[in-house]
Amino acid sequence: MKFFIDSANLEEIQEADRLGVLDGVTTNPTLMAKTGKTFPEVAASICKFVKGPVSLEVISTECSQMVAEGEKLREFGSNVVVKIPMTTEGLKAIKILSGQGIPINTTLIFQPIQALLAAKAGATYVSPFVGRHDDIAQDGMLVVRDILQIYRHYDIQTQVLVASARHPIHILESAKMGAHVVTAPLKVIQQLARHPLTDLGLKAFLDDWQKMKK
Ligand code: G3P
Repeated sequence: MKFFIDSANLEEIQEADRLGVLDGVTTNPTLMAKTGKTFPEVAASICKFVKGPVSLEVISTECSQMVAEGEKLREFGSNVVVKIPMTTEGLKAIKILSGQGIPINTTLIFQPIQALLAAKAGATYVSPFVGRHDDIAQDGMLVVRDILQIYRHYDIQTQVLVASARHPIHILESAKMGAHVVTAPLKVIQQLARHPLTDLGLKAFLDDWQKMKK
């Protein structure tokens, strides 16, 4: 399973990279706005630092404008994946941009058939938002399970990118289901490495070492 960081903060991206687990980056307009910098400045610095795929999202909602914006976003680097929202206009834009060989991440997926449509239109990735489903007392991971089942039935090559992952259980379940990618904030990626028994065990080893005869 590939790990992407869901962040537009370069320091966070660099820290995830130092951990040795970083395969790519996803951003969205909210994450971009949080940086307090201009979009071109942030997008250029991320695309320069990251070797893997970087999802940059369009803010247009009409097909021809999304296509023009997507083509422009690709000028930031050949690793740019154009993030398109799951709408009927979005599907038209996915068909055109993917037809030009531009990789697409279809965002704001909340039910499995949306993911089937995005795949048929040519998306490279689909992003089911699991945490936002959980927020309204629905099990977001069930959507991931169903998308994977449908894709396996029809041997669909589109990758399931689990988004809005908020805690380690989302990541564990994604891996057990065989999701292709998970994207999560740095805090969640760091949580994955931690276990209280690891900390206690390390403390005991270091304490015992002090007791050794010098
Ligand atoms: O980038 C899309 C997604 O990961 C957003 O997550 O936590 O805002 O629902 P969240």
